[in-house]
Amino acid sequence: MIPVKPVIAASAQIPSIEHYRAIYRESVAEPAAFWSEQAQQLTWFHPPHEAMRADIPRGDVAWFAGGKLNAAYNCVDRHAAATPDKVAIIWAGNEPGDYRRITYAELLGEVGRLANVLRAHGVRKGDRVCIYLPMIPEVAFAMLACARIGAVHSVVFAGFSADALRERILDADCRLVITANEGLRGPKSIPLKATVDEAVEGLELVHAVLVARRTETNVSMRTGRDYWLEDQLARHRSAAPIEWMDSEDPLFVLYTSGSTGKPKGVLHTTGGYLVYAAYTHRQVFDLREGDIFFCAADAGWITGHSYIVYGPLANGATTVMFESLPTYPDAGRYWQIVDDLAVTIFYTAPTAIRAVMRAGDEPVHRSSRASLRVLGSVGEPINPEVWTWYHDVVGAGRCAVVDTWWQTETGGILISPLPGATPCKPGSATLPLPGVQPVLVDDEGAELEGNGVSGNLCLAGTWPGQARTILGDHQRFVDTYFARFPGYYFTGDGCRRDEDGYYWITGRVDDVINVAGHRLGTAEIESALVAHAAVAEAAVVGFPHDLKGTGIHAFVIIRAEYDAWPPGELAGALKEQVRRVISPIAAPDRVQIVSALPKTRSGKIMRRILRMVAAGRDDGFGDTSTLADPSVVDELLAARKDHR
Ligand code: PRX
Repeated sequence: MIPVKPVIAASAQIPSIEHYRAIYRESVAEPAAFWSEQAQQLTWFHPPHEAMRADIPRGDVAWFAGGKLNAAYNCVDRHAAATPDKVAIIWAGNEPGDYRRITYAELLGEVGRLANVLRAHGVRKGDRVCIYLPMIPEVAFAMLACARIGAVHSVVFAGFSADALRERILDADCRLVITANEGLRGPKSIPLKATVDEAVEGLELVHAVLVARRTETNVSMRTGRDYWLEDQLARHRSAAPIEWMDSEDPLFVLYTSGSTGKPKGVLHTTGGYLVYAAYTHRQVFDLREGDIFFCAADAGWITGHSYIVYGPLANGATTVMFESLPTYPDAGRYWQIVDDLAVTIFYTAPTAIRAVMRAGDEPVHRSSRASLRVLGSVGEPINPEVWTWYHDVVGAGRCAVVDTWWQTETGGILISPLPGATPCKPGSATLPLPGVQPVLVDDEGAELEGNGVSGNLCLAGTWPGQARTILGDHQRFVDTYFARFPGYYFTGDGCRRDEDGYYWITGRVDDVINVAGHRLGTAEIESALVAHAAVAEAAVVGFPHDLKGTGIHAFVIIRAEYDAWPPGELAGALKEQVRRVISPIAAPDRVQIVSALPKTRSGKIMRRILRMVAAGRDDGFGDTSTLADPSVVDELLAARKDHR
């Protein structure tokens, strides 16, 4: 274990492991009382009359029923009244040194004006709005403007293709899209408006597209549908009435990948989500007055929702929003921002840490990082060597490292050390937060008691940040999360609880892969591949990748008519196909053309075998007797280096 260094002054709230254990016991013994107390950190227009109601087998959960509140009021108005000149958002633009500071008073004005624009375009409580923006302050303004008027935002990561965007717009029934003419990511500009045009082509549904002007580039604007955001904002005043929402009214939908089918719109509601985002942001990062909190995620993912926007702003903190890449213009970029802004808490994904670690220690040593106190990691297992580098080199051995485990569906962090309190083991997310009850079960659903066990990670009970449903398909919600292990929420992750009761996430046990911190379903990538005329069948698995954590290996059977196509060109075309249908983040690293896939007699692909082949392992394939044609394995092995 890494002893807690005395330099990290103990957290004011949970100063020691004994204190944590006492709070933990209390929280699980009396969850209603525990969470009701946390809910008091928010400002309620009307207080809740009941803490919680849950019917877990039906996936039916409600928190703080009867309570009325508004998320934007909690994130903006109340701080604009108390600390108007405090900086709410520091935007770090694509080019080094390009910073913009937005105070809470200014944020109130921006959010209000945009809320009025949305209302003027007919957006009402409960309507869905699609946000397809780069990392510019408008993304936060737009989310909060929706929240202010009770509209439900659906932020789509600006790296998704037109097809993927269209699918999400349709699924959530979004009438209005907010985008920018272009985005900037390092040396590249990204034609967002053109992508939106393609996505909404022929869709009657979308009656307005608001376009933020990020660059000077002009884009085509369709009269009567497309509006420059700045022109629209100029028409409206900043005072905008607030829609008081029921605690269980939806706040947002966010699409994420599962093991089957198309991405699902995970729905979070207002009261529980906000209580949870704010509580975990305070506890896990040991938030203190004056902190400058820098979460380097994208607003298009849950990490950006909970820990760039809602958590920090609900807590009245200063949050940094970063437009660029960790390696632009070089691998010292994060640390330069840390020094420029005196960042105290820094939060990113292992894949980003690995990317900058590759450049060695020199870019880190160029900065002082003296302001840093807490370093966070999220999104994938962090390899112990990367953890140690983060702790020793970036944190100079004096910062707490918090490896935070959670998911889009959990709304906020569930398993994580608490700075200054929890002794760490590199690579382990350590212990559950107060109110969180992890349970390990074997494949038959029997609970594994005690320590020193491995199994499927489930959660017992409920916590306020838990997703409430999948938009438009509650049955799918139940089937995905509550059916496999009745009585529990199933995370889809495998996990080990060691002799000290510490949790070690071992990765997904379903057909979801975590590529460079991005969650992808292998089934989605397979459908994108088979949509290409040349592909008869495809099977996609992950393999260990030094930089991305997991790489994408596609096994593809080609239709006879395409046999003459040179394999290199074919592989290139198929990678391009996935880029176009989903996103560059989903493009296979390797395409291997095969003549057959290992299938059972009932026709099920044995992915276990493909995973081993992709990982370059042949130390026993286990039981292959159920294969329809065992010789397929020999062919795969013989040709396994033969991929492009
Ligand atoms: O497999 C786990 C992994 O990321 C999955 C959730 O992905 P997503 O919904 O996109 O949310 C990512 C940001 C919260 C989990 O099922 N994961 C997340 N955090 C960790 C992790 N795996 C290991 N350690 C973590 N700290």
